[in-house]
Amino acid sequence: MTTHAIFATLVYSARLRRVHGQRLNSQLLRECRQLALDDAAGRRWSAKNYPGGYTSYSSASRMHQLSPTFAELERRLNRHVAAFARALEFDLGGRTLAMTDCWVNIMPRNVVHGLHLHPLSTISGTYYVKTPRRCPGLKFEDPRLERFMAAPPRLATARRANRPWIVMPAQTGDVVLFESWLRHEVPPNPVAVERISISFNYNW
Ligand code: NI
Repeated sequence: MTTHAIFATLVYSARLRRVHGQRLNSQLLRECRQLALDDAAGRRWSAKNYPGGYTSYSSASRMHQLSPTFAELERRLNRHVAAFARALEFDLGGRTLAMTDCWVNIMPRNVVHGLHLHPLSTISGTYYVKTPRRCPGLKFEDPRLERFMAAPPRLATARRANRPWIVMPAQTGDVVLFESWLRHEVPPNPVAVERISISFNYNW
């Protein structure tokens, strides 16, 4: 007898290569903070849509085209996205996945980023610039959840593959990739230090 695990949901995580990684990260951190100071339109949008925090999602959402530092991040991310696409066994018909959007998120204490997905994209992900101890990770929801109907809850000790929610920890220097349709959220930041990340979309 065999129990088959089918319809896998893949999530990718890796450390960005260490070569000059420290320098790149410090420069990204400086530019993220500077952007939050300079970007009045982004601050206005965030006040309405991201209370207490700052995101350049609606105002400076193509940072890889504006800043050589973000362009370097893009170049480093490309190989991870390609590796993830191979793991997913995508048939891209000769086309390649390219970065379309890239924006900054700053979450001080108590800021939350509610459940969402990334429409009109193929692969999405986050690079972590600053992750204070005990700051929240990235919480993914089982995409089949709304179909479970009479399904019983899972044991507290259930294997990861059987859990309805999975939190991927946020670690400075790490990248997390997922398919853009996979719903996720960042729970409230409980610590007094801000959590800074760069999110992005790839399309083909
Ligand atoms: Ni997201």
